[in-house]
Amino acid sequence: MTLSRFLLRIALLAPSIAFSAPTAAPSDTLARRLAPCLACHQPQGRNDAFFPHIAGKPEDYLYNQLLNFRDGRRQFPMMTYMVGNLPEPYLREIAQFFASQHPPHVPAPVPAATAQVLARGRMLVLQGDAARRIPACVACHGQRLTGVAPAIPGLVGLPRDYINAQFGAWKNRARRAQAPDCMADVAARLTEADVAAVSTWLASQPVDDAARPATAPAAPLPMRCGGVPDHGGAP
Ligand code: HEC
Ligand code: HEC
Repeated sequence: MTLSRFLLRIALLAPSIAFSAPTAAPSDTLARRLAPCLACHQPQGRNDAFFPHIAGKPEDYLYNQLLNFRDGRRQFPMMTYMVGNLPEPYLREIAQFFASQHPPHVPAPVPAATAQVLARGRMLVLQGDAARRIPACVACHGQRLTGVAPAIPGLVGLPRDYINAQFGAWKNRARRAQAPDCMADVAARLTEADVAAVSTWLASQPVDDAARPATAPAAPLPMRCGGVPDHGGAP
């Protein structure tokens, strides 16, 4: 989707989205209350460069993002508006709800790329580049890149444009996490060509619908990450 189509979609959606804190009405189930979220976060796991899927991502990862929007570390006006005034226990319920959904993945077109680009992307993801202090993505995102519960998301199944956009946001500080912000540090060490290679390789990997986040990292994380339980990583 182009940026102008994205903005058009927001303009069309905005008036129809009403979202409120829980009430005691008996028909007021969580699924029903969260239906407005699906206007942008497609229920069937469809992927989009601008509207990320949220179903099936690890619970604490989703919870941390809701806090990040609420507290201004991530910026998207509609998201801030939606979660800005909600109490933390309710944000926790929302995160639990979406983390427990596992809709089948809808494949995106595999990006065209040269063998060199793919090889470079694969190398950075699986091994990193010690000389440039770039840790392997698998060291935190799991050996199978399906994430590590409870707070690190998977990387397979994300569209290339979405990954590129997130790296751009980390580099220009539009996306931040609780300190220490390990992804901002990783992003700062990658060149634009590195990011393009990594996102292209990741978006070319097959997705296994039955895969779930690993329950623990295979080894201590190479850096510490705010919002992630301490796995003994170096500061
Ligand atoms: C008008 C469209 C819109 C609506 C409605 C909306 N969101 Fe979002 N949401 C977005 C966009 C766009 C982003 C990505 C912003 C960015 O790139 O930082 C986002 C990001 C998120 C993220 C972070 C995803 C990730 O993988 O990092 C979560 C969690 C989230 N939204 C939850 C919700 C919940 C819960 C609701 C309903 C209460 C909701 N959203 C309603 C547009 C929307
Ligand atoms: C030291 C651990 C660590 C390393 C190494 C690491 N990541 Fe991350 N990554 C994280 C954490 C933690 C988050 C969640 C950040 C947050 O809460 O916003 C994350 C989030 C992400 C996201 C956001 C996913 C989404 O759904 O929005 C992407 C994309 C990503 N990382 C890509 C990468 C790539 C590519 C590499 C390798 C070049 C990498 N990461 C290396 C810890 C790491």
